[in-house]
Amino acid sequence: MGKIKVGVIGLGKLGLDCAEVFAEHHEVRGYDVVPRISDTVKVCDIQEVVQESEWIFIAVPTPHAAGYDGSVPSSHMEPRDFGHEAVIDAITKINHYATTGKKVVLISTVLPGTTRRYFVPKLNDTHQFLYNPYLIAMGSVKWDMVNPEMIMIGTEDGAWNGLAKELVDLYTPMMKNDPRYEIGTWDECEAIKIFYNTFISAKVGLANMIQDFAMKIGNINVDVVTNALAKSTMRIMGPKYMTAGMGDAGACHPRDNIALRWLAQEYEVGYDLFDTIMLARERQAKNLADFLVIQAQRHNLPIVIHGKAYKPDVPYCIGSYSTLVGHYVQQAGHAIHYVDPLADDTTDVVIEWNKPAVVLLAHNREVTYGYTGQTQEDAHYFDFVADSVVIDPWRCHDQSRSDITVIHYGNTREQ
Ligand SMILES: NC(=O)c1ccc[n+]([C@@H]2O[C@H](COP(=O)([O-])OP(=O)(O)OC[C@H]3O[C@@H](n4cnc5c(N)ncnc54)[C@H](O)[C@@H]3O)[C@@H](O)[C@H]2O)c1
Repeated sequence: MGKIKVGVIGLGKLGLDCAEVFAEHHEVRGYDVVPRISDTVKVCDIQEVVQESEWIFIAVPTPHAAGYDGSVPSSHMEPRDFGHEAVIDAITKINHYATTGKKVVLISTVLPGTTRRYFVPKLNDTHQFLYNPYLIAMGSVKWDMVNPEMIMIGTEDGAWNGLAKELVDLYTPMMKNDPRYEIGTWDECEAIKIFYNTFISAKVGLANMIQDFAMKIGNINVDVVTNALAKSTMRIMGPKYMTAGMGDAGACHPRDNIALRWLAQEYEVGYDLFDTIMLARERQAKNLADFLVIQAQRHNLPIVIHGKAYKPDVPYCIGSYSTLVGHYVQQAGHAIHYVDPLADDTTDVVIEWNKPAVVLLAHNREVTYGYTGQTQEDAHYFDFVADSVVIDPWRCHDQSRSDITVIHYGNTREQ
């Protein structure tokens, strides 16, 4: 690949180092509202950057308001979005100075939905646009840029397009670790980036909570506990439980969290993550129940939950998420019916269902037992009658039957 003309708007902690990495391969111009110096990047005015560059990478700040950086207490403060002004300013200047169509790539971190709502509508149609946030840490910007865990490329519809492929061609010779490329909608890439960071915060928060308990309870070396958990690749450190669907359930997990709420109070650690986790679990169940109720009202159908036990192939209804969802359905004034041949609690359970209904596919054998390697026959407990609306929280059920509606709950791309 010959040298490509690359422009970078915003030469700060991220942008300058990234521009210099580009400059190892390409002809790079950069612009910043404050003076910047570089041996390899031509720092110049915005007009030259825009007019002379084929690709324009935007790495301007999307700042938080004062007091929201986490260095002083902020959890009591009103939540706020990042600032969008600098990105909009960069887009406005590209529109103003460009004399040809540009390949515009936004790197800056923004919340899911921002690009589609606030940025793309402002960019002239003559330009093409990708959202491409970086996973880069301070102190190792240049190394991180060419050794990324993944490269996220966001397009309007989440499909590979010509520009996305061109960006891969631009990056591939620069990368040192043959990275994974993740294509998604703008919104999905915004979400991957922000949830990547916040997963880390949640993980650190959990590890440090064990440290707090070690200090309060005694006879605990936090490293013994976290090292044992860190090696737990079957369920904790790995992709398992990364499929959104029904909530955590069963005889142990909900009650363990509830018991740890007590422990957090008893030892006065000063916060209660389990309360938050359990509250989230309940609100998630209520959100799902509300969705079932809306569908039931829209189609004038009863609500049936496929599976009452806390998982398939066992009778145990203890700690069941199905019944938690059912509770919220009833609270909304709707009757609930369950079909489950094994359930040990037969309240509201019917043997068969042969009428149209809104059906929640709570049980999915493949999701629950697929890790054992055993081939699971995922026969349903009853046949779905024509005109039914099937809500699949696991997003697996075939959508080809024309006489029923199958909604993949959690995938708002398709609907
Ligand atoms: N720093 C990181 O490690 C990192 C990693 C990944 C993503 N990000 C994201 O990248 C973006 C930039 O982060 P940063 O740490 O480099 O911020 P920064 O504040 O260090 O740099 C931003 C630069 O943009 C310049 N600037 C401000 N407004 C401008 C405008 N209108 N036109 C041109 N230049 C302008 C500033 O003068 C500054 O030099 C943020 O959205 C951030 O969240 C940063």
